[in-house]
Amino acid sequence: MASTYHAGGEIGYGRYGNPTWEMFEAAVGALEGGVATSFASGMAATAAVLDLVPPGGVVVAQEQAYYGTIALLREHERAGRLQVRPVDLTDIGAARAALDGADMVWAESPTNPLLLVADLPAVMGAAREAGALGVVDNTFATPVLARPLRSGAAVVLHSATKYLSGHSDLLLGAAVVADPALAERLVAHRGRHGGVPAAFEAWLALRGLRTLHVRMQRAQANAVTLAQRLPGHPSVTRVHYPGSGAMVSLEVAGNAQSADRVCASTSVWVNATSLGGVESSLERRRRWPGESTDVPETLIRLSAGIEDVEDLWADLSAALDGGG
Ligand SMILES: Cc1ncc(COP(=O)(O)O)c(C=O)c1O
Repeated sequence: MASTYHAGGEIGYGRYGNPTWEMFEAAVGALEGGVATSFASGMAATAAVLDLVPPGGVVVAQEQAYYGTIALLREHERAGRLQVRPVDLTDIGAARAALDGADMVWAESPTNPLLLVADLPAVMGAAREAGALGVVDNTFATPVLARPLRSGAAVVLHSATKYLSGHSDLLLGAAVVADPALAERLVAHRGRHGGVPAAFEAWLALRGLRTLHVRMQRAQANAVTLAQRLPGHPSVTRVHYPGSGAMVSLEVAGNAQSADRVCASTSVWVNATSLGGVESSLERRRRWPGESTDVPETLIRLSAGIEDVEDLWADLSAALDGGG
């Protein structure tokens, strides 16, 4: 908890370094198999990684990525900073066709909130062949389920706000790279732009990281059970579950109000945005004006937590009985 340090030591000023960030970065770097740089939030990390693209460069982006990421890409495009090529990266043919002249490929897998999964070794391999920097937002899978640097990604992005910290009590981001020279550029960017994490947040995230594997195991087991039961509920018209992870999306019969009623009538599930906490949460994604219109109005995104799955099912199925 210091903004400045005695002259002559390794760190001169708090915007350039902090021992607690370094411990968090060492842990995340070990988990992902690369060199991690921490940021104030997932979006601060995203902004720094996008600034690796040269002016006027081309970014091939997963069209269904987190809407904040898409909004930032579009803002850069409007300002003439870069060109965006939105593509469904789950279609490797479409991905390859879009790669000509690309500087960066921005993948997110599974995507938020449709939970689409890309063939990361294929997409990252194609990016590399095309001379583009491959980025994977690994927030939903976490290094417990996927280690994209091994699949050929150059950068792994995390909103550490979610699973890595795991308790819905902080905002933090990380970018993990295989090439230390890239890490140096990210560290320099962070120091200049000032998107630095707070020491306390990094400390809390380190504590959360200690239970990442057990939280993921339990939350995933809960998600699997829910994904198996939900299609049998008469108010549920579709379930999106990629087969692993703790995120499940479902579509309910009726309209946006029907979905809102479901979200408003749970008591174990918290009706709130964000995800990846020990407590289960749900929300209707289209309540956000920025969300993609490809996301149905009746889609509810579930983030399964670590509670007893029977409590979760009883609460959710009762809400669906009344609301759908
Ligand atoms: C997949 C994904 N990436 C990035 C972000 C942005 O992270 P943060 O909210 O920590 O800035 C989010 C936030 O919801 C997200 O879901």
